[in-house]
Amino acid sequence: MIFLNGEWMPIEEAKVSVLDRGFIYGDGVYEYVPVINGKPYRLEGHLVRLNNSCKEIGLKNPYSHAEWSELVKKIVEKNGTHDQGVYWQITRGVAKRDHSFPVGVEPTVFMMSNPLPKLTQEQIDNGVPCYTFPDTRWHRCHIKSISLLGNVLAKQHASEQGGAEVVMLRDGFLTEASASNVFCVFGDTIVSAPKDNHILGGITLDAVTDLAKKAGMKLEVRPVPAAEMWAADEMWLSSSSKGVLAITTLDDKPIGNAAHKGKPGPVFKKMFALVQADLFGTH
Ligand SMILES: Cc1ncc(COP(=O)(O)O)c(C=O)c1O
Repeated sequence: MIFLNGEWMPIEEAKVSVLDRGFIYGDGVYEYVPVINGKPYRLEGHLVRLNNSCKEIGLKNPYSHAEWSELVKKIVEKNGTHDQGVYWQITRGVAKRDHSFPVGVEPTVFMMSNPLPKLTQEQIDNGVPCYTFPDTRWHRCHIKSISLLGNVLAKQHASEQGGAEVVMLRDGFLTEASASNVFCVFGDTIVSAPKDNHILGGITLDAVTDLAKKAGMKLEVRPVPAAEMWAADEMWLSSSSKGVLAITTLDDKPIGNAAHKGKPGPVFKKMFALVQADLFGTH
């Protein structure tokens, strides 16, 4: 069952006008939260980010945090007992095509839930190949916008080469992946790009940061130039659907030092265990 504009229905019955501004302009924002053992992971972070996204595009968030939490809880109950990924989006609604915001129009709210994708043991043990890609997206990547053409084209570049993700570079600095954040490790220090307007501030990135701090691991938030990135001992991806995942080759070149060249490194293994424990509530 899905939720559309206040009603529950099978996805096959869900219909949206062709004049919806989400369809015409990609004018909307979205969220995606993993639900494990029936519990949404770090939902509050997602709700705060949704509020920010709405504010940034001048869209009134139609529901309070309590109402969103209730909707997420309901959709999970309606869709089974397995782990799920809940996706929802808000668009600026249906109106005659005109770029300026329409007046007096209700937003369109759509929520669906699907089984949470699971990493394979092979991906966990061996990491994944990624490919570099120029980050030519707009300068407001901190908004979780449904206008994702830049990200779609980036991901396609990776897919066509059998890669799991892209690692994007803007003006010679590492930004993020098409649907994940990117971490580098130098020695025992974990480094991530600043959470500015050139990346989406990931909730999983925040989780990694919290967990690293609690575990006394070394962390730095700073720009990473391409040359430094290429010398990283480890690289990882993080996202709500993947958790953390090691990048073991970049443009077909192995990442890492002699001890674990082309293999997930020790800092990744420690963080992977911490994230798993946090996700499954076993910490
Ligand atoms: C562009 C981009 N960066 C980073 C992320 C990771 O964010 P989160 O950890 O909140 O899933 C996503 C997730 O969809 C994304 O689309």
